[in-house]
Amino acid sequence: MANIKRAKTEPVIVLRDLKKRFGIGDAEHYAINGIDLTIRKGEFIAIMGPSGCGKTTLLNILGLLDSKIEGEYDLEDRPVASLSAGRQARIRSQQIGFIFQSFNLVSRLNVIDNVALPLVYKGTTRLNREKQASAILHNFHLGEREYYMPYQLSGGQTQRVAIARALVNNPSIILADEPTGNLDSQSSHIIMEELSDLHKRGNTIIMVTHNPRLTTYASRVITMLDGKIDTDTAAPNRKKDTEDKKPLGKTPKKRRKTKAKEAQEEVSL
Ligand SMILES: Nc1ncnc2c1ncn2[C@@H]1O[C@H](COP(=O)(O)OP(=O)(O)OP(=O)(O)O)[C@@H](O)[C@H]1O
Ligand SMILES: [Mg+2]
Repeated sequence: MANIKRAKTEPVIVLRDLKKRFGIGDAEHYAINGIDLTIRKGEFIAIMGPSGCGKTTLLNILGLLDSKIEGEYDLEDRPVASLSAGRQARIRSQQIGFIFQSFNLVSRLNVIDNVALPLVYKGTTRLNREKQASAILHNFHLGEREYYMPYQLSGGQTQRVAIARALVNNPSIILADEPTGNLDSQSSHIIMEELSDLHKRGNTIIMVTHNPRLTTYASRVITMLDGKIDTDTAAPNRKKDTEDKKPLGKTPKKRRKTKAKEAQEEVSL
């Protein structure tokens, strides 16, 4: 299906006939089977579709976690195939924020140090690291938990801390795979408001969700089917803020953890 026309911001992501094949011989199959897509700066895209249609696979490719692809992927006008592994790693750590459900915290570090970790690699001073980490923790209503250790947090708090850590670096592209998948409605609301805020500040957000209610935050909704784009539509006008304040329901739990673990390990290196 042809891409719908967007406002005239510059393209951040351009995919041409993207394919991803898993398996060999009889087991070979295409998880992504010919995607043409342009994502422009500042879009908030919700990706939906049935289980197994290729959403996570696509997100992993967009986030440079999987480079064994067919077709073309240009990230900010640079063909990804032409970037060295080191360059890709730098882009991942400086420009892309991953929000996956299964991010783990570093157990020997307290909450604020966990959140500040990505800033260490950026060369931010300790004082500024703490300031930035503290600010985002306050946004996530976790200000009182700064000096807790991970084992002292509830599941929802742990996930919010992990998401704060994914965002502390102020990434311009945020990839979120069912970010509220196993959060209660209050925690979901806090996360979605933060993503919405990042969108208003001009960041590009690509969020996979099974929850149709979350599409109200998006500017564009893409549905996938069998490794292809099925529909691609501008989202209806965003609901008024007051309407958004409704609690958000839970979505089904996610199953795969490997990619998230890899991303987490990279952050913790
Ligand atoms: N590492 C892998 N090896 C082989 N096949 C894989 C691998 N990862 C994913 N697949 C297959 O690719 C297809 C798409 O998987 P993907 O995880 O992208 O689906 P999804 O749309 O994210 O599903 P869900 O909504 O359940 O998370 C599935 O058929 C899956 O079995
Ligand atoms: Mg998935």
